[in-house]
Amino acid sequence: MSKLVVNGEKKLFGKVSVQGAKNSVLPILAATLLCEGTSVIHNCPRLTDVTAAVNILKHLGCSCVCEKNTVTVNVRSLFCNQIPNWLMLKMRSSVIFLGAILARCGKATISVPGGCELGPRPIDLHIDALKRLGATVTESHGLIEFDARNGLIGNEIYLSFASVGATENIILAAATAKGKTTIHNAAKEPEISDLVVFLNKCGAQIYGAGTDIITIYGVEKLFACVHKVIPDRIVAATYMAAAAVTGGEIMLENVMPSHLQVINSIFEESGCTVQSNDNSIYLKAPTKLTRVPMTRTAVYPGFPTDAGPLVLAMLSVANGTSVIVENIFENRFRYVDELKRLGANIRVEGKIGIIEGVSLLSGAPCKCTDLRGGAALVVAALAAKGKTIISDIYHIKRGYEDIDYNLSNIGADIKEI
Ligand code: EPZ
Repeated sequence: MSKLVVNGEKKLFGKVSVQGAKNSVLPILAATLLCEGTSVIHNCPRLTDVTAAVNILKHLGCSCVCEKNTVTVNVRSLFCNQIPNWLMLKMRSSVIFLGAILARCGKATISVPGGCELGPRPIDLHIDALKRLGATVTESHGLIEFDARNGLIGNEIYLSFASVGATENIILAAATAKGKTTIHNAAKEPEISDLVVFLNKCGAQIYGAGTDIITIYGVEKLFACVHKVIPDRIVAATYMAAAAVTGGEIMLENVMPSHLQVINSIFEESGCTVQSNDNSIYLKAPTKLTRVPMTRTAVYPGFPTDAGPLVLAMLSVANGTSVIVENIFENRFRYVDELKRLGANIRVEGKIGIIEGVSLLSGAPCKCTDLRGGAALVVAALAAKGKTIISDIYHIKRGYEDIDYNLSNIGADIKEI
């Protein structure tokens, strides 16, 4: 298994062009199942999660071609409506295909999604919503079968939690349902707005994305289109944390600053200078970061749970005590034990992480526990004295395209072995 080797204490300085958003590409690839013709998706990052999604489309019978950062999908030969267990296990977020398969085929079968590194990932909100759209659901032998052979019918849906995936599945199921669907307490993440832009370009009639009430008027047919995916705001935050923790400077290109407002304010609170322009963000770090007394993760537009590990790693070398409260996932702090191997002084009590800034981290062997936890280890290793060897980097490859190449381009001593 490959590893990342980092020799820390190198100040980062330079430009990074930010990849397309993984969490936009996945639901948009699912949405191509609804469209006649050939969909062309640009700015797709080359990631193992994207490959897994393409493999699901191929398994269902679609023809897919991946050329560098463009994926084209044609669903004319769609013949299957079951996501096999081995593909479901490969990527927990494959549940995002459920609504589109059900809408297109009238039937969908998925395996009961296991948990993931972040804790139990139930899909009760997805199931309840699809039932309200007219699907019948049966569960046996670890498989969940959804049946809507008489078609899906629009309805009022009230989400008890503004779940990103459930909101996306409802939109995908309702886009070609009969009648009107209204989602109350919908998730407002930018990736959901990007999915809706794609669907409306294909002929859907969806309004209110980005607010907590989304209205979908079902249409007969959707027709494939060409779409460029928005930038990945969490990857942008990762490179900002890398520059901040090394006392460096970075210019991020191809970003949407409006998606990073809360994240930018946390970096400013830690002593960084942050300037946003149309599609770029400039960050200059202080010699020594200052503590950020309290950060609470929340649904968008609050501080994103996925950026928590990156900020926590950065604050592990700040002056003073910082606190991060994780309100979304139960096992988000699993990476902290690995961070402590580099000398971080962090106490986790339930959903609260208390970070006592230390003057210097020291390189050590460590292991990724999940995607963003792995990215946090890279951030910490960049500031640590000496060599850090990070294993299980397959977690990082799920969400970061060429992270070693991009970081070494701005002065980091990092390579994959
Ligand atoms: C999406 O996951 C993202 N994944 C996650 O990024 C992100 O952390 C999360 O949203 C929150 O922003 C993709 O978009 C592919 P949720 P999702 O449904 O849809 C509970 C990454 O690696 N819940 O908003 O799974 C759930 O257990 C990932 O990029 C239910 O209880 O997030 C969790 O505690 C990590 N029942 C919370 O809601 C349900 O039916 C957040 O889930 C659904 C969710």
